[in-house]
Amino acid sequence: MIAKEMEEALNEQLKWELYSAYLYLSMAAYFEDLGLEGFAHWMKAQTAEELMHAMKFYKFIFERDGRVILQEVPKPPSEWESPEAAFEYAYKHEQEVTSRINKLMSLAKKFEDYATENFLNWFVDEQVEEEASFKAILNKLKLIKNNPQALFYLDNELSQRPLDLNLLMTQV
Ligand code: FEO
Repeated sequence: MIAKEMEEALNEQLKWELYSAYLYLSMAAYFEDLGLEGFAHWMKAQTAEELMHAMKFYKFIFERDGRVILQEVPKPPSEWESPEAAFEYAYKHEQEVTSRINKLMSLAKKFEDYATENFLNWFVDEQVEEEASFKAILNKLKLIKNNPQALFYLDNELSQRPLDLNLLMTQV
């Protein structure tokens, strides 16, 4: 059994994970439009990862005898000034997600809900990784500035990211 307030907060986070997937798919479309297929591929892989995060919440809410109530997902932006601006936006978004996970953790502690705390620990670690991977690409983009050759080199590097849909299937 789970406290009502905790259940609602987990549902809200499920929405945020879905919004993250929506945002990164929008970024994939932006990069596709620029002809940066490696960047688009990387963002599609990130979309799959966010869907996996959403499904972790979905599964956990039911496991605790709660009820998943899907919320309205906001429309993401579709244009950015540059690849660097898009990654700056994404990096800030991940920082926001981290702060939301931390607030969920505080709520779980308030309710002495150890099962939720334990569940959220995975996300605490994951957010360290998420922020770091966005920051690493952002740093490279800052160095590249207006060098098309370096941009295409990075595009090729990003095209190598594995797109693991099995990861998603483990959560359903
Ligand atoms: Fe689900 Fe990128 O945080």
